[in-house]
Parts: sequence; structure tokens; C-alpha cells
Amino acid sequence: MSDSLNALIHTLRYEAEDITSIELRPVGGGSFPAFAAGSHIDLHLPNGMVRSYSLVNPSGETQRYVVAVLKDRASRGGSRSVHEQLRVGMQIRISAPRNNFPLHEDATHTVLVAGGIGVTPLLCMALRLKALGRPFEFLYFARSRASAAFRAEIEALGVPVTWHFDAEKGGPPDLQALLAARPAQPGTHYYACGPAVMLDSFEKHCAALGYKNAHIERFTAVEVAAAKDARTTYIVELKRAGREFEVEAGQGLLAALRANGVEPSTSCEEGICGSCETRVLGGIPDHRDSVLSAAEQAANTTMMVCVSGCRSERLVLDL
Ligand code: FES
Repeated sequence: MSDSLNALIHTLRYEAEDITSIELRPVGGGSFPAFAAGSHIDLHLPNGMVRSYSLVNPSGETQRYVVAVLKDRASRGGSRSVHEQLRVGMQIRISAPRNNFPLHEDATHTVLVAGGIGVTPLLCMALRLKALGRPFEFLYFARSRASAAFRAEIEALGVPVTWHFDAEKGGPPDLQALLAARPAQPGTHYYACGPAVMLDSFEKHCAALGYKNAHIERFTAVEVAAAKDARTTYIVELKRAGREFEVEAGQGLLAALRANGVEPSTSCEEGICGSCETRVLGGIPDHRDSVLSAAEQAANTTMMVCVSGCRSERLVLDL
């Protein structure tokens, strides 16, 4: 990867039940590239997996990056490797930060909605809004108090916080009612990160309430069906390399690129991290990712080659 950085695992810290934070520092001192609130980095883990995690520390900091990882019982190996194999003093490769979840810093009001470990990018946003003196509030849902990371940091923000712990309330929050009670001025922006079911509900209720500025970040992929007119075979032209090849039926674009000696930068390979974003110079992609907004997908100027396909005979990529 061209944007790969060497990082030292400086601190591992217990943050809540099954949640550990990892503070990374540049190997040999110095600083990391600057990042904006909402950004994430890829960690190249000891088991060979590459996983993306949101940066949680204040966005002005470049002497360190901090991520927090939930040990997921359904882990395919990523979070287990973080919890069981990372040690203080170890060096790992990480990517430079990328941001698929940018903060609108000039919003008249901001509502941050966190579900469980989804708190990480939202805490970074909250710290930024606090530093800018912008008005915002926090809604934080978790299974229990003991499983809610960064409670003290959120309390210390000194802004209105709505806490909801399922174990104390006997079930999940009424998201529709909570959103309906928030300010509905046109300048308000709403951000949510958390489990897929919460994000689906957030999107649905924001749409019903007419909240246009609703933003989400997913950390689990959504199954997006192929478009009705998606092609099973098509020609891929690599403009910069000056060559082309056919994507065969059942092969998939990423596999076809690799079979032809092209290795795009990838991480999740599920359409959620943005690593493989590639400029489209011609043709119509069949977008199946969870990174691009509906408007960005409609523009057809960029695509996630790990999960997306093609709806035209030919796809021209900036590769
Ligand atoms: S590799 Fe993560 S979006 Fe493609």
C-alpha cells in the first residue's frame, strides 16, 4: 500500500467490557498525517487481516492515533487478533487516515447518535465541535453501563447527553421518539454510528421526519443486491495502464483485477471502508457499497471495486 505507515503500539487500555483502546505512535518519533473528525485507519493485524477502525482522539493530534476495538463474538478474526495478539511495544503497519464520514463543522446544531462501539467516530466529532464552540448534543445507547466506552470523556464534554442502557430500561431505545424530539431546523446535522439494525432504523426515521442532513457510518456490510441490469460479463479498460480485459461471469471485478495483476488498495473487501475507491472514467458502475451516498453513486465518478460491478458493456477505470 502506498499510504502505509509504521506504528508503535504505545498503550493498550481497558475502556469497557470487551473494549480495548490502542494508542499508536509513529515509529522513531515524529508525527502522523493530520486527520479530520470521522476518519478511520486500517490496521494490518498480526494474523494477516486488515481491518478499519475509527480514530477516537482529538483531530488536532498528530503525535498519536487512538482507536478502540470491541471483541466481537462473531469475529471472523479481526477483533480477536486485536484483543489477543497485539502487545505494547509491537510495531504494525497502518494506513493513513481516510474519511467517509466527514463532519459539517458549520452546522447550526449537531446531533450525535452512538450505538455501542459506534461511539468512536462520534466522540472524535464531539471533541472537534467542542473545540470549535459549536452547539451539539449526544445520544448514547449501549447494552449496559459496563459495556459503554468513554462515558467519562462524554460526561466531561459538558453538553446534553441522553444515555440509554438496555439492561436498565428493559430493552432498546425508542429511536423514533428520541429523533422526533430533537431540533428540526434545516441547519441541523444528524450523525449515527452503531449496529446495522440501529442505522437502518435511524435512516428510516430521519427520512420520515424530513431530516435531510442525516449521515451514517457502517462497520458491518449491508447485502446490496445486484442491479436488474447488472452485466455478468463486461470489458474493463485500465486507462493509465493502457490495457483491457474481460470480467468473466461469476468472477467479480476485484478478482478480475487481481487475475490481471492489478492489486488495488483494499481492507474490508465488503464495501464499507473506502480503501478501494477508484475513479471511473467511463461506463456505468453497479454500486453495491455502503460508503458512497446515493448522490455520489448516481454521479458515477468513483466506485468501490471490491463489491461493485458494471451495468454497461465497458467500464473505464483510472488505473
Ligand atoms: S476494500 Fe473496503 S470498500 Fe472496498
